[in-house]
Amino acid sequence: MKRERFLKSIFGTGALLSIPFSSNSINIDELNSQIKSISEKCKGNMIGFKTEPIKTVKVGLIGIGNRGKTLIQMFDYFLNNKKAEIVALCDLDKTNIDYALNYLKSKQSIIPKTYANGEHDWQNVAKLEDVDLLLIATPWEWHTKMAIFGMENGKHVASEVPIAYTFEDCMKLVETAERTKRHCIMIENCCYNSEELWIMNMIQEGVFGKLTHAECAYNHDLRALLLHETYYKDQWRMKHHTERNGNLYTTHGIGPVSFYMNIGRGDAFKYLTSMSSKEENLSAAVKEANQNFPVIKCGDVNTSLIKTENGKSIMLQFDVHTGRPYSRINQLVGTKAVHEGYPSRLYIDGDELEFWGHKWLTNEDYLTFSKKYEHPMITKLKKISSSFKQGHGGMDFIMIYRLISCLNQGIPLDINVYDSVMWSVISPLSELSVSLDSKPIAFPDFTAGKWKEKRESEIMREI
Ligand SMILES: NC(=O)c1ccc[n+]([C@@H]2O[C@H](COP(=O)([O-])OP(=O)(O)OC[C@H]3O[C@@H](n4cnc5c(N)ncnc54)[C@H](O)[C@@H]3O)[C@@H](O)[C@H]2O)c1
Repeated sequence: MKRERFLKSIFGTGALLSIPFSSNSINIDELNSQIKSISEKCKGNMIGFKTEPIKTVKVGLIGIGNRGKTLIQMFDYFLNNKKAEIVALCDLDKTNIDYALNYLKSKQSIIPKTYANGEHDWQNVAKLEDVDLLLIATPWEWHTKMAIFGMENGKHVASEVPIAYTFEDCMKLVETAERTKRHCIMIENCCYNSEELWIMNMIQEGVFGKLTHAECAYNHDLRALLLHETYYKDQWRMKHHTERNGNLYTTHGIGPVSFYMNIGRGDAFKYLTSMSSKEENLSAAVKEANQNFPVIKCGDVNTSLIKTENGKSIMLQFDVHTGRPYSRINQLVGTKAVHEGYPSRLYIDGDELEFWGHKWLTNEDYLTFSKKYEHPMITKLKKISSSFKQGHGGMDFIMIYRLISCLNQGIPLDINVYDSVMWSVISPLSELSVSLDSKPIAFPDFTAGKWKEKRESEIMREI
């Protein structure tokens, strides 16, 4: 019964109707085939989805904490050009609403409607006639509920990461988007970082040859923030570390790698295996801070290995407990080149013997490659807006630029609902694998087999 309760916490209470137990152990093959067969309900009809152009995108923002406050600043350029308007603001905390109202005062002529009347007032934002896009920057437990309710009320939805953390919620998001025909995007900003875009461009230009392997991560010492009494409202993020063990924050690492490897556009994740180390660091920090979290379930370092249908491999890591410098690793291995991030280095495997020096490019050569293969999106945005550098060194602005521009022009978004759930579902699958001594767990196919159709990534379009 304990194991059944655990599985339901990972998969959701309704998704896996029969959990395959024999005596006290789980039949993995049966479990994996259920994951596949449940996802067969998906239709794949949101690939390439577009709507009528929206001249001025009317935005309702829910959640104005750390992230919501940054996101609001990314809109300066669009408010100024009347490409977007922020028409509604919602948060539990009135002071956050006042912050946003004050910020927007000089940026747009309309005064947004405000909603701060308890934890369900956001539903009134979703119901507003004049909202086109619901922007969700609340704690994780709200993302799927808000996105689904938004789509049911005719809104396009853009959620912060992760958009879901159970398999069942991923299924519900796909089902709702496919039925209501609304955009459902997880706004994964790291896909828009200039280094990642540069690599994307080099892949398209053939610099890497054929891709074989990538390594990526979210390694970020969050101990002080997790335990800060007010940084995350009511320390909401700690609950995940006391109750779950696996990769709890997959998308900053896997989003860009998924684009590198054309996942959903000619290749797909096939299975993963995941292992967590023992836990030491966060519980020590809890003790030192004299706080009261009796158990930290999440191991310090979680490492998952993913195999793709076309035979590539990916190492994805997660560590927010250990004191160490920030890294998303950003390693990409191809038959002709290798990149490693933190700090960024490039190796080119030339045809001529003299190039086979086992050495990274010199600074000078590296700069030549940086300039030659700069992503056209970066080149363009440098010219049109001084906002270009805003938000995590520019990636947050570019992400919002692409989202609003796609809606203005009525063209498919860069990140679709299938990308969003595929990057998010890695969390529950890794939790399952960790709990089963790293047994391989199959990925669902949310695209109804449409991943087999080779397409260029939307992020490479000039718009
Ligand atoms: N992409 C990035 O770089 C990035 C960076 C930081 C945070 N995030 C993501 O942003 C989200 C928010 O994180 P944060 O750091 O801003 O947390 P936070 O605690 O600072 O902010 C959350 C806000 O949501 C509000 N809220 C909670 N429940 C609500 C409800 N029912 N209705 C309305 N408002 C509600 C809270 O009052 C709070 O102001 C998380 O999903 C996090 O993973 C992403």
